[in-house]
Amino acid sequence: MAEPFLVESPDVTYSKDFIEAKYTYSTVHVCKENGVTKVRPCSTRFTFRTGRQVPRLGVMLVGWGGNNGTTVTAAVLANRLGLSWMTKTGRKTANYYGSLLQASTVCLGTGPSGDVYVPFRDLLPMVHPNDIVFDGWDISSLNLAEAMRRAEVLEWPLQEQLWPHMEKMKPRPSIYIPEFIAANQEERADNVLRGPMAQQVEQIRRDIRDFKESSGVDKVIVLWTANTERFCDIVPGLNDTADNLLRAIERGLEVSPSTLFAVASILEGCAYINGSPQNTFVPGAVELAAQRRVFIGGDDFKSGQTKLKSVLVDFLVGAGLKTKSIVSYNHLGNNDGKNLSAPQQFRSKEISKSNVVDDTVQANPVLYGPQDKPDHCVVIKYVPYVGDSKRALDEYTSEIMMGGTNTIVIHNTCEDSLLASPIILDLAILTELCQRISFCTEADPEFQGFHSVLSILAFLCKAPLVPEGSPVVNALFRQRSCIENILRYPGAPSAASPVPAGAPTGLQGVPGCQGVPVPTGGCPDPGGAGAQCLGCPVAPVGPGGTSGSRCVLVTGPVPRGPGDAQHQGPSSGGSPFPIHGVPKGSKVPVPGVSQHPAAP
Ligand SMILES: NC(=O)c1ccc[n+]([C@@H]2O[C@H](COP(=O)([O-])OP(=O)(O)OC[C@H]3O[C@@H](n4cnc5c(N)ncnc54)[C@H](O)[C@@H]3O)[C@@H](O)[C@H]2O)c1
Repeated sequence: MAEPFLVESPDVTYSKDFIEAKYTYSTVHVCKENGVTKVRPCSTRFTFRTGRQVPRLGVMLVGWGGNNGTTVTAAVLANRLGLSWMTKTGRKTANYYGSLLQASTVCLGTGPSGDVYVPFRDLLPMVHPNDIVFDGWDISSLNLAEAMRRAEVLEWPLQEQLWPHMEKMKPRPSIYIPEFIAANQEERADNVLRGPMAQQVEQIRRDIRDFKESSGVDKVIVLWTANTERFCDIVPGLNDTADNLLRAIERGLEVSPSTLFAVASILEGCAYINGSPQNTFVPGAVELAAQRRVFIGGDDFKSGQTKLKSVLVDFLVGAGLKTKSIVSYNHLGNNDGKNLSAPQQFRSKEISKSNVVDDTVQANPVLYGPQDKPDHCVVIKYVPYVGDSKRALDEYTSEIMMGGTNTIVIHNTCEDSLLASPIILDLAILTELCQRISFCTEADPEFQGFHSVLSILAFLCKAPLVPEGSPVVNALFRQRSCIENILRYPGAPSAASPVPAGAPTGLQGVPGCQGVPVPTGGCPDPGGAGAQCLGCPVAPVGPGGTSGSRCVLVTGPVPRGPGDAQHQGPSSGGSPFPIHGVPKGSKVPVPGVSQHPAAP
């Protein structure tokens, strides 16, 4: 198979099936002894192995007939067919703008005329989005062409060209439990499964097998892009362990549709990604994924306002300005907005959006005391007229020198589904790639895969799901560095040669590894004004970064048992965080299980 480039180094070898790269991970451990901070460099030799055979990938979308589902399917078709269409400002052609993998670049190194950049997708063999085969479920029976028209996202001349292709696509009947989504969705629910819960899960499993067989794909990934659900209570005996969750399904107890889809996917060995904010990954689902060694990832696509927030606050606090207040208004008029106009579904979104600056703030003890956080308020309103063209208005107020105030106001018009669609593609393609990467160390020479909670997806998610005990990192460029570095080590140049100019240094976000001095967990990275990351404390927090670099996050290698994941909650550790409508410190304190925010 032809590679876009070849690494000439004794540390990188190419065989028919694998690219293998050795890499020395240098980090710094920091601990306090007798009141003295000791800084100890240490290093670990990793070997990364990446399968070179790119499979034929099938993606099954839950909520296929929605705005995201129809838009991503249409975009892939339009790209595959090389379509173009006229608009009032001229001819447009299909592209993948907004996709990290397809439309952004990384620096490969320095050539005779300066830095050489390649598309992200060239770092390792990956699925191309044009080759993805789509299928899915929706509680609405409209075929994909009619659903595309209902979404009002794409220009009509493009829809006309896509129509004959899309009208053949029809969502499969889905699991519908009305109480989980807004009552205003009932009128579109004409394509639903009936019968006991366990039988419905069996039907979803049969659908996955049927799709795989009939389409001839090698692998299936299932992704939830259906309506935002309300949160679930985490109840010991109900959903706190895999066994209890499976029993609850048998008995038809309270399990959300998104969790039922997660269970069905995991039991079929298919990775499952949650693109909505609700706590789909109850501890029992996380444990099931760990037991079956199936990847799960989420939560909530990070497309517009949150993405900007995670950059802007990182910049403000990193520049030494004390951000005191963040106020975010949104109004949108698509079906997502209609669903979010119900209080319980809004609450899920509010929680998902709430913790996005926590790590940046906690990383700067010069500006913020232990209980100190900016005020953070999120408002979402449904305004049908604006359709899919969501408006996000943000005000950031920061204290500057000598009692001064700096206020930044931003108006962001997000075409929601056109921003979310490339993220859906990146999520699926990255997840598939991770299924082909394994690694070992000299101390533990047996190859192993990443942790079943795939935190490398954090760049693409508002409320990143991470293995329990690992800090959540929201700062966008640290998340990007994580993906870049993880992709570099298995097969790209910095695994074998000096870090190229312009590229981040250090092993950021490399998988933690049991048995070597790189415990699972991410560096707290107290970077920012007057607070530079010294390295990684030996205990109790794990490492992840090198001196002078900024640690990112962790994809720990070995599933560690029940509830081995944590979600962002409205307020970690009970510290004050005045989000309107969200009780303080409302994580569910169930020992050994995921840390979810409490249900409303
Ligand atoms: N578009 C974005 O920018 C963005 C960003 C972050 C998160 N999200 C989330 O993605 C999700 C989808 O967004 P959208 O704009 O496509 O919404 P949408 O309302 O247009 O689509 C959701 C679809 O899911 C279907 N559905 C509801 N319950 C279902 C079930 N149990 N099984 C199968 N189908 C079901 C609905 O009929 C609908 O067609 C929402 O939860 C939204 O909050 C979107």
